[in-house]
Amino acid sequence: MALYSWYKSKRPGDNRTERCLAEDKAVVYSVEEGSGLENVPLIAQPVRNTSRPDMEKVTVPDRNGDQITLNLKAGRLWPMTMEHVADVCGFTARPDDVFLCSYPRSGTHWVSDLLVVLISNRLQLQTALKADAMLEYVGCDHLDTKPSPRVINTHLNYHLLPKDVFQKQCKIVFVYRNPKDVALSYYHFIKERKHYGYNGKFPAFLELFMEGKVPYGDWFEYMQEWNSVIEEGRPCQIHIMYYEQLKQHFLREMSRLCSFLDLTRSTEFLEEMEKLSSFDSFKRSVDAQFDNSALDEWKGAPQFIRTGVVGDWKNWFTVALNEEFDELYQRRMKGSCFNFSYETDFTESV
Ligand code: A3P
Repeated sequence: MALYSWYKSKRPGDNRTERCLAEDKAVVYSVEEGSGLENVPLIAQPVRNTSRPDMEKVTVPDRNGDQITLNLKAGRLWPMTMEHVADVCGFTARPDDVFLCSYPRSGTHWVSDLLVVLISNRLQLQTALKADAMLEYVGCDHLDTKPSPRVINTHLNYHLLPKDVFQKQCKIVFVYRNPKDVALSYYHFIKERKHYGYNGKFPAFLELFMEGKVPYGDWFEYMQEWNSVIEEGRPCQIHIMYYEQLKQHFLREMSRLCSFLDLTRSTEFLEEMEKLSSFDSFKRSVDAQFDNSALDEWKGAPQFIRTGVVGDWKNWFTVALNEEFDELYQRRMKGSCFNFSYETDFTESV
């Protein structure tokens, strides 16, 4: 598969993660002014023999001293799995591209597959990893080779999206999920993947999440940018999907999505889609994709598609943590158009 050969050719026998974690020379790293991370005590570890000249490997300590190893570029934190952040400024969009935009752990894999099934009109789950169509991960050249219509996913902040997406009036599907379950899902994801080197406890991780010291950075900033786009009606076609509503009202949400995509699909087709992408069946499919991956760090990813439930956060947040989170939410998201509910039984959002 294209992604594997592309990745392999750049990373023969790569074991940089282990090498860097063993490095004991820690230095304080300075970050770009205005990045919002100026006061974050990042500790960078020099990387030897790197083929990733534009990325710095850094460790972000939580309050107990447990550290997450991340990539840093242009004042932003990126996942450890990224070879580089592709320069996507010159990306050439096509008018029939569909962009799936979401903060990590918000249901991106699920919605990406649903989009492909709807658009291709074939009741079949993907066999390629979502990363194979991820803008900042595979970059322009790789995406140029893909046939239309393309479903391209990205976790990039709105302001980092290529201009051509808007010039070509591409359709954008924006997916979001309640931030408490996002934070919990992110915790398990990072803890389970050894290249992040993290063994911390959830409360300490939640603090890092609230401070934006996680891959792709600050959830609040990410959401506020999209809030402005939605509220100010900027010139793009956006369809908004809420993970919790998709879980609860699958058929209704699929009908809405079809209307947005100008597609007609029968109720029977949508019902088959629901069965096909049910949590258990989807998990089996994605687990198999990862197990077949040529990349060691992607193999055996039990926490990638984890529980898929709404409200698991309640088993992890203490009353005090919850109050602290709610207080921060009120402060950072005041006046936003998003109306979250944190349980299965929720009221309508935007
Ligand atoms: P949990 O860790 O809470 O289980 P992303 O793809 O953006 O990384 O999001 C991953 C989250 O979406 C995981 O959440 C995963 O289980 C959930 N998810 C994936 N497929 C799902 C499905 N078919 N039904 C419900 N949740 C799903």
